[in-house]
Amino acid sequence: MALLPLQKYGSSLLRRKTKEVIEFSNLQPLLNDMLETMYQEEGIGLAANQVGINQSLFVVDVSNIEDETDTKPRIFINPKIIDREGSVDIEEGCLSVPEIRAVITRAENITIEYLDVKQKKQTDQYSGMLARVIQHEYDHLQGKYFTDYLSLTKKSMIQKRLVEILQKGIPSKSITIK
Ligand code: CO
Repeated sequence: MALLPLQKYGSSLLRRKTKEVIEFSNLQPLLNDMLETMYQEEGIGLAANQVGINQSLFVVDVSNIEDETDTKPRIFINPKIIDREGSVDIEEGCLSVPEIRAVITRAENITIEYLDVKQKKQTDQYSGMLARVIQHEYDHLQGKYFTDYLSLTKKSMIQKRLVEILQKGIPSKSITIK
């Protein structure tokens, strides 16, 4: 296994819609490396384009979060969120946008279609933290950041930090937008 280099805000791959996965034969080593990288960075989700791979897949593991009952890593290949309902405000961060956190409104419950590692089509419903992380990672595959949802006023509050990420990979100070 190997740690993969993390793409940060400003990477062109993170602004592009990812390609559909069509080659499954050598996927497992990539998935293992993505999980290892995510755990090393103490993340709870990681999309392939965050580690420089232009493929439509992401991994999620919320088992380290307090009060979460989901205990295993989950893998979503060629996902499509087909239904969203409800609305909830939760604070988010992102490994590609370090030291910036913001309260984002997203659907409370989602239905997602995807392929599992055996290329079997699955349709699942998620709520709570899993629904939240899945929507965040799914956005990465569409070339979208959580900060895109902020109002212009709130975007201006993090602009300096974003420039610092572009220049140095990390901002001089952390910031949380409520
Ligand atoms: Co992210």
